[in-house]
Amino acid sequence: MTAPATRRVTSLMAAIADTGRDRTRGGYTRPVYSTAELDLRGWFVAEAQARGLDVETDRNGVIWAWWDLPSRDRAGAIVTGSHLDSVPGGGAFDGPLGVASALAAVDVLREQGRRPDRALAIAVFPEEEGSRYGIACLGSRILTGAIAVEKALALKDEDGGTFAEHSRAAGLDPERMGPDAERLAQIGAFIELHVEQGRGLIDLGQPVAIGSSILGHGRWRLTFTGQGNHAGTTLMRDRHDPLVAAAGVIAQIPGIAARHEGARATVGRLQPVPGGTNVIASRVDVWLDVRHPEDAVTALVVEQIAALARDLAAGQGCGVDLREESLSPTTHFDPGLRRRLEDALPDAPVLDTGAGHDAGILAAHVPTAMLFVRNPTGVSHAHEEHVEDDDAETGAEVLADALMGDLGI
Ligand code: GLV
Ligand code: MN
Ligand code: MN
Ligand code: MN
Repeated sequence: MTAPATRRVTSLMAAIADTGRDRTRGGYTRPVYSTAELDLRGWFVAEAQARGLDVETDRNGVIWAWWDLPSRDRAGAIVTGSHLDSVPGGGAFDGPLGVASALAAVDVLREQGRRPDRALAIAVFPEEEGSRYGIACLGSRILTGAIAVEKALALKDEDGGTFAEHSRAAGLDPERMGPDAERLAQIGAFIELHVEQGRGLIDLGQPVAIGSSILGHGRWRLTFTGQGNHAGTTLMRDRHDPLVAAAGVIAQIPGIAARHEGARATVGRLQPVPGGTNVIASRVDVWLDVRHPEDAVTALVVEQIAALARDLAAGQGCGVDLREESLSPTTHFDPGLRRRLEDALPDAPVLDTGAGHDAGILAAHVPTAMLFVRNPTGVSHAHEEHVEDDDAETGAEVLADALMGDLGI
């Protein structure tokens, strides 16, 4: 694959390079329906409209930009896209690269005088990261019915505001949210381009890979409860400190995961309540992320962590409660679509990924595929995430080709 000369993706990405920059953490913090994410959604709408695409936001907050057939028939459309929200302090490319590449792919096709033989849509999904309300791919989960809408609407962010309240503030009507079979029927195939989030492509000398599968993954919340008290007046022997129990568990998680080949277990967020330097916490919430190709192993890792948590909590005279927040089984992308991509891109490696994506949620309902663009740092969910300009442009051209031809749908 030789690098294209036109800088389509690069100039789209440059236009949003200052939106949501996080001066404290580094990188970008663009929680769904925050000012930064809403600005990006506005940017996308403007770019889509500038291309003459017909833009609509559906009742679940997914933005759709349509390149219609003369017949305006949208059934079984080819859909591409990604998300614009980010983790705290995330990279520039996780999500936006797929959106910018989708816009650029439309430009590529038009410049080449080609168009798919079906309607084409670019979709932007809300709360892919789950960094605001705790459950990843919330938009696609609601759309497909993978989460009960009542549960989704009641989810709270760190400040106690609900997804329902923030959706309403963003102009949506929470009462109209829910599974959308009509919308799903419009998706003939979904192809998501994404920055690669690991080191898979680094040593292969190729800018783009074809996705094979997404590792099964889930999120759990361990809530340790103890006795809030004074840091100066409470003797060590009189304490019931839930943070001590939580810290003991976290320290042993790498050892537990290491006993299960291929397992990944992470605590990246914990919240002591009330969170004062001179206050023994009364409660600590610990968010646990566990992933493994075999769902039974994921369950086993979680059970072993939970058993340890019960032990260590009891040792501190504390309680602990475990709650499953979300669980997604290992997902294999559509074999037919994948074969077609492999035929079209004979040099492209085929890689699985440990990262979750809306394509993984949609895969239970429609044929899905993914393309990964090389990330020379191998780092993601951090500001070091990177894509070289040439690779970004190649990615858009590859995506344009992928949207064409007989996709077998
Ligand atoms: C989201 O990117 C995830 O994989 O957690
Ligand atoms: Mn992503
Ligand atoms: Mn991500
Ligand atoms: Mn993701």
